Amino acid sequence: MKNILVIGSAGQIGSELVPALRNRGYSVVAGTSGRTPMPAHLADGPSAVVNLMDRDALAKTVDRFEIDTVFNLAAILSATAESKPMAAWDVGVNGVIGLLELARDRKLSVFTPSSIGVFGPETPHNPTPQDTVCRPRTMYGITKVAGELLSDYYRSKYGVDARSLRYPGLISYVTPPGGGTTDYAVDIYWKAVENGAYECPIAAGTYMPMMFMPDALRAAVDLMEADASRLRHFNSFNVNALSFDPEGIAGSIRRRIPEFRLSYKVNPLLQGIAESWPDALDDTAAREEWDWKPEYSLDEMTDIMLREIAKRLGKAAA
Ligand code: SER
Repeated sequence: MKNILVIGSAGQIGSELVPALRNRGYSVVAGTSGRTPMPAHLADGPSAVVNLMDRDALAKTVDRFEIDTVFNLAAILSATAESKPMAAWDVGVNGVIGLLELARDRKLSVFTPSSIGVFGPETPHNPTPQDTVCRPRTMYGITKVAGELLSDYYRSKYGVDARSLRYPGLISYVTPPGGGTTDYAVDIYWKAVENGAYECPIAAGTYMPMMFMPDALRAAVDLMEADASRLRHFNSFNVNALSFDPEGIAGSIRRRIPEFRLSYKVNPLLQGIAESWPDALDDTAAREEWDWKPEYSLDEMTDIMLREIAKRLGKAAA
């Protein structure tokens, strides 16, 4: 891994992965769709307009910058995908297979995140094993299962170095997520700082796996840097960090904002998806094969989230 292209650099993961990779000494081309403006903090290196669906243009960018590794972060998350199933399929399946074809031709390494969305109601939920039933009920999950299988197929059939992680809900303060079932765990922090109150679309007692963005970034980079001879799973590794329900995250916020109020207005679409997903994951394979270990606890994450959001909103830190 030397010359990297990040597709989706303006998004929730990409906007933080690009600087993380650059800080690690890699040469990184920040790729965006051109629909969203390039974040100003990514202007310290090369960039390109890349559309995952435009294979010729993508190949030209790969050749022009002598790219050897692509992080493909283009995705339509779970809730949005339910209203745009064809678009979700296009990005999540046609986009991924096009990139794998290019990877075969150009000998690229490829990272495409998978998700807890690959699991469904029949999957054991606590903890969810590495190798288990993957029968999701969402279009997002279906595309992620297909992406995992395609990535393994191109690896075993053509020797493509494709690797991935099943990300839990990712929590960050730099760029908002959009259209995900786990997004409440980001929104709650913004509303806590802004208003001291939050109306939650997910019911009390609903646990989902979650992770603070610095852990998620380190996981991606560590996996791509891992010695391939140690890996058995490739696509895709469970990675576990945090597991909480709305009361759990609210309790963590109240350590800093004691008057914080949590109420509920459950969204049936989101709640149905949340209930079909795991509470927590068994990530023994990731720990054994590439030494994965999360660093941040819920309270450590909460302290950083509240402090950084307060700065961004020009408020005194809690
Ligand atoms: N955060 C994603 C979602 O909620 C799950 O991978 O859709």
